[in-house]
Amino acid sequence: MAIKLAYGFWQRRGGLYRKKSKFISFKSAYHGDTIGAVSVGGIDLFHRAYAPLLFETIKVPSPTCYRCPLSLTVPSCGMACIEEVEKTIKRHRRELAGLIIEPLVQAAAGILTSPPGYLKRIRALCNKYDLLMIADEVATGFGRTGRMFGCEQEGVTPDLMAISKGITGGYLPLAATLTTQPIYEAYLGEYAEFKTFFHGHSYTGNPLGCAAAIANLKIFEKEKVLDRLRPKIAFVKKRLDPWKRWAHVGEIRQAGLMVGIELVADKKEKTPYPIEWRVGAQVCRRAKERGVLLRPLGNVIVLMPPLSISIRELERLIRIVGEEIKRVTSEIK
Ligand SMILES: Cc1ncc(COP(=O)(O)O)c(C=O)c1O
Repeated sequence: MAIKLAYGFWQRRGGLYRKKSKFISFKSAYHGDTIGAVSVGGIDLFHRAYAPLLFETIKVPSPTCYRCPLSLTVPSCGMACIEEVEKTIKRHRRELAGLIIEPLVQAAAGILTSPPGYLKRIRALCNKYDLLMIADEVATGFGRTGRMFGCEQEGVTPDLMAISKGITGGYLPLAATLTTQPIYEAYLGEYAEFKTFFHGHSYTGNPLGCAAAIANLKIFEKEKVLDRLRPKIAFVKKRLDPWKRWAHVGEIRQAGLMVGIELVADKKEKTPYPIEWRVGAQVCRRAKERGVLLRPLGNVIVLMPPLSISIRELERLIRIVGEEIKRVTSEIK
């Protein structure tokens, strides 16, 4: 939806703006499984199979630091990856309608966190070169990173925002695309002008989904969910910090209550475990036997507990995951 809305905005402006039909998207990005979302995705394993069906997008490097796509070292890099983005935008600026990004974290790619300040600089580039910024907050929205939206962590307001998952607390399916007043107004006009956005889904605005979302938002206010998250996030960080020294923990990436623990065969060389060893899946299978339900992304163990989890439950979750990581990584050497 956001892609279509951004494109339609420039089309309605007319003149030279009509040339603005392409989008910048990121390697390792995941935005969903429709052809449009796959087109702006960047995970080869999911997306390559459909390559002939996709529309062309302009890809820029993933803003991840552990395995820097530009082979630079932090912190001396000075965020050179942003300069790559700017160079690419400059090359294509007249044909660019917008840029789509997962704020702070590329989730499906393995909880790949971007360096602090990156999102703010992306916003500045979008302003400078007249691109609409689309923030896909489907994973990061509704408290997941510790603020209501990931964008808030860097004081960023996108032009379009895709939200879902946490909007109903996970109780009913609902998604929404938010936008600014100027974009909304571009779709207003006289009936016969047909400026309307003529797209929707069978269950668009589903009343039950919306009721669940409203109830969920009330809980956020009434139970001060965001305030109560702070000690939980700090607890997770404190408990996981010592794991960074473990022989087979390559990196721990945390954004609020969204954590990826990357297991590696060789820490110094950052050598991944062979995928067929299914190290992540083994840890999760064993944790499940002890009552902890997790899902790995390859060799990355993902912790994304419900925001209502208690410190006691977090303690149990972390203890069991830690024990199983130790057990599996010591057994398979
Ligand atoms: C960042 C992000 N965008 C989009 C999606 C896809 O959402 P949906 O399955 O509702 O299309 C996901 C799902 O995991 C996601 O993490």
